Amino acid sequence: MNLFDVYPLQPVSIAHAQGAWVWDESGNKYLDMYGGHAVISIGHTHPHYVERLTDQLGKIGFYSNSVHLRIQEELTEKLGSLSGKSHFQLFLCNSGAEANENALKLASFHTGRKKVVAFSGAFHGRTSLAVAATDNPGIVAPVNQTDQIIFAPFNDEVTLESIFSEQGDEIAAVIVEGIQGVGGIHEASVSFLKTIRRLCDARGAVFVADSIQCGYGRTGTFFSHDYSGVEADIYTTAKGMGNGFPVGGVWIGPQFKSRHGMLGTTFGGNPLACAAALAVAEVIQSESLIQKAEETGAYLRTQLEMIAGIKEIRGRGLMIGIDLPAEKSDTRKRLLREGRVFTGEAKPNIIRLLPSLALTRSEADYFLGKFHESYQH
Ligand SMILES: Cc1ncc(COP(=O)(O)O)c(C=O)c1O
Repeated sequence: MNLFDVYPLQPVSIAHAQGAWVWDESGNKYLDMYGGHAVISIGHTHPHYVERLTDQLGKIGFYSNSVHLRIQEELTEKLGSLSGKSHFQLFLCNSGAEANENALKLASFHTGRKKVVAFSGAFHGRTSLAVAATDNPGIVAPVNQTDQIIFAPFNDEVTLESIFSEQGDEIAAVIVEGIQGVGGIHEASVSFLKTIRRLCDARGAVFVADSIQCGYGRTGTFFSHDYSGVEADIYTTAKGMGNGFPVGGVWIGPQFKSRHGMLGTTFGGNPLACAAALAVAEVIQSESLIQKAEETGAYLRTQLEMIAGIKEIRGRGLMIGIDLPAEKSDTRKRLLREGRVFTGEAKPNIIRLLPSLALTRSEADYFLGKFHESYQH
C-alpha cells in the first residue's frame, strides 16, 4: 500500500527535535520557524510536556465522554484563567476543522438560522461546513457546495452592512480569523471586528472568532481578536493547544444553553489530550510565553522591516508574513536548502513565520542571518 499522495513534501526526513530545532535522519540540524504549521507552541519535546504525557499514559490513556473525567475539568479551569474567559464553556474536540464545524452548528442550533457569513481569503478547515466557508474552490467538493455561505470581502465594512441589512434575519453566524493565516497574514482591522460585533448584536447573529492559527498566545494576547477590545460569542482553537497532540476546543459564551446530545465526539477531551493541553497551558504561564511571543515577534518585525526591497512585513507577535517581490520568490527554498531553516508559505510569494512562542532572541538572530543570506543571494 502507498500513502495517498496529497502533500507537496519538503525534501527532508525529520528524525527528532528539541525546542526550536529539528534534526534530519543524517543528523543535520534545522531551525524550525514554521512549528509544523503553527502547532508547536511551547517548543518540541518540552520536558514538562513529555513528563505530563508519559505520566498520564501510565495512569489512563483513554476513556470516553460517558464518565466524569476530572482532567477535563482541570483543563477547563486552567484555560479559563489563562485566557480571561472563565465565564465561557468549553467543548473539547480533535482538530481545527472539527472545532469550526461544531461552532457553526451550535450557532445554527442557537439561532434557528442557516446562513453563515465568511470572508475572502478565509481558511476554516476541510470538513463540510468549514470547507464551504473557506475561500478556495479547489478544495470544496461538489457535495460540500452550499448556498448557505455568504462570502464578503475581508475588512469591507460597507459590504457587510449591506449584507446584514438585506439578509440579517437569516444569518446564524459570522466567522472570521483575527489574522488570516493561509490567506497570507492579513489582520482584521479593529473597526471591522467592532462592526461585526455591532451587526451580530443588532440582528441576533453569532460572532465566531476562528483562533486556530492566530490564537493561543501567538500574537501577544491569548486570542488575536482581543486587540480589538471586542468579545466574540464563540472562539475556536486547535493547533498550538496540544503542541502536536491533536486537540481542539470550542469556547462557548455563557448565553448558549447546552442539551444532552447536542454536540459529541468519541476522542475529544480524552485524558491524554487533556494532559497535553494542560502541559501546554502550564508552560505558557510559567514561562510567560505570551509576552515573550509579543517581544520576540516585535524584534523580528523591526529587523525585517529594515531589509530593502521587501514588499511588506505583516502580522503580530510570532505570526509574521514576509511579502516578497516576485524576483525573490526562491528565498524560502534557499532558506531550507542552504540555510537549513523551515518556514511556511502563502501564495503568491509570502513567507510565513509561525515558530514556537519560546523562540529566543538568539534563535531569532540566527534566523535573520540565514534570511539575509538567502534573500540577498
Ligand atoms: C484559521 C484556521 N482554521 C481552521 C484550520 C483547520 O484546522 P485543522 O487542520 O486542525 O482541521 C486551520 C488550519 O490550517 C486554520 O489555519
